Amino acid sequence: MSPKRLKKEMTYHTSSTRQTFKLGEQLGKRLKGGETILLIGELGSGKTIFAKGVASGLEIKSSTAVTSPSFTLINEYHGRLRLFHIDLYRISRPEELYDLGLEEIMTPANVVMVEWGEKLGPFSPALAIVVRLSSVGERQREITISFPEQN
Ligand SMILES: Nc1ncnc2c1ncn2[C@@H]1O[C@H](COP(=O)(O)OP(=O)(O)O)[C@@H](O)[C@H]1O
Ligand SMILES: [Mg+2]
Repeated sequence: MSPKRLKKEMTYHTSSTRQTFKLGEQLGKRLKGGETILLIGELGSGKTIFAKGVASGLEIKSSTAVTSPSFTLINEYHGRLRLFHIDLYRISRPEELYDLGLEEIMTPANVVMVEWGEKLGPFSPALAIVVRLSSVGERQREITISFPEQN
């Protein structure tokens, strides 16, 4: 995707799980590697649905999780790019993230996607793609995707 065609921030409204999945899939299709995606929104806002769409856009089959027992918070998937999916729901302090090896996985070859991304605190990369989701009805979700300036 050329920089000219990419707006810095876009807001979408979805009215079904499938639409949210598809939106994530569109984002996944244009990832090139090296991106960190922060998913921010309350419980039930659709972070995991969106994340599954991103994985689909990266051509990841649902059965390809490579979970290491020591990385309980991180699931690794192999598709068009390598995807690390992290869920920080149970984290209460950023200090708990020291042992995760985040620096090692945030490389140009990988995509790192973080649910409850606001909990990364000081571990948050400056150039993350930020996806904010909120419930605006039983099936309505407002989803804003912000791209870092360099994209
Ligand atoms: N438009 C929508 N987009 C995403 N999820 C929706 C939508 N409408 C209803 N839902 C429901 O909301 C829930 C979202 O769950 P999930 O993605 O696990 O949320 P989170 O990971 O943010 O806690 C699912 O039960 C899904 O079926
Ligand atoms: Mg979730």
